[in-house]
Amino acid sequence: MVDLKTTYMGLQLKNPLIAGSSGYTETVEMMKQLQDAGAGAVVLKSIFEEEIMMEMDHTLRESGKEGFDPGVFDYYDYKIKDNYLTHYIKLIKQAKEALSIPVIASINCVSGHEWPYFAKQLEEAGADALELNVFTLPTNTTRSCAETEQLYFDLIQKIKATVSLPVSLKISYYFNNLASFIQRLSDSGIDGLVLFNRFYSPDFDIESFKVTSANVLSSPDELYLPLRWIAVMSDRVSCDLAASTGVHDSEAMIKQLLAGAQAVQIASVLYSSGVHVIKTILDGLEEWMDKKGFASVDDFRGKMAQSRSDNPELYERVQFMKYFRGMDQG
Ligand SMILES: Cc1cc2nc3c(=O)[nH]c(=O)nc-3n(C[C@H](O)[C@H](O)[C@H](O)COP(=O)(O)O)c2cc1C
Repeated sequence: MVDLKTTYMGLQLKNPLIAGSSGYTETVEMMKQLQDAGAGAVVLKSIFEEEIMMEMDHTLRESGKEGFDPGVFDYYDYKIKDNYLTHYIKLIKQAKEALSIPVIASINCVSGHEWPYFAKQLEEAGADALELNVFTLPTNTTRSCAETEQLYFDLIQKIKATVSLPVSLKISYYFNNLASFIQRLSDSGIDGLVLFNRFYSPDFDIESFKVTSANVLSSPDELYLPLRWIAVMSDRVSCDLAASTGVHDSEAMIKQLLAGAQAVQIASVLYSSGVHVIKTILDGLEEWMDKKGFASVDDFRGKMAQSRSDNPELYERVQFMKYFRGMDQG
């Protein structure tokens, strides 16, 4: 028998497979199914700052039609945020009652000012940890990289000063000097970093000239970007790393653990294969550990991190050079 137990941000997990934030973690019934299928923890569907802002916008526009009274702004601001928060707090409380695995709340924010207060409420509702998903596409040509990065450090500082539960940050790879940024984030007091978030992308319908949405679900080929960065960074950070994007089977999960991930999140594969895929992935992991003679996850975690490689340059190779010359010509 192999031992799959692990810790992630100080939480005890029966295994390193986490159901990441998605529609599958939006109701307690679905989360119960994820737990029954074997998930080590769940990250709740995020509470979205943008969604709250959009509802505010809509409500204010509607109220404006009858003659805008600036006094209503504060009222709606409070009312709408309170509705969203109340609903989310109820979800956390119900999830905590129904589940025995850790429940990680998730905040998706684009600004910093009110989220420390929200985070406190989520902690009081019983969340075991908090995952912050902070991102705006860097399309603003007047904002410097340093200014963008500072938003993250300010938010972490404010949230860590407000709550005592473990906090992780789910980031994208759209940063200048990514290794340095990841390392500085890990030194900022954050407990975990999730590499990487995957974004909704626009696509074009060339018949109707409409903007549509490109692949909502990831493909297994998307594993390699986070795999490289987990392998490069796992021995250089002072917090736990969780892998996200492109994990669709046990082989992908094993690779991320070999790269040094403390935990691995899945979302798309739940949609394409159903919750039972969790058991299939865990069975595959156990079988592989058994075959390789690893008794616990710690026995092989990080075994293929860049820092432990005899050929660290392979992890930084980006140009095809001679390797695919045949393919180029074909
Ligand atoms: C339908 C769907 C909904 C998602 N909703 C959220 C969300 O609310 N918050 C969040 O941080 N990530 C969300 N994600 C992103 C996933 O948590 C995950 O980071 C991403 O899909 C990459 O992992 P995957 O390749 O296993 O899908 C969502 C993903 C999908 C497919």
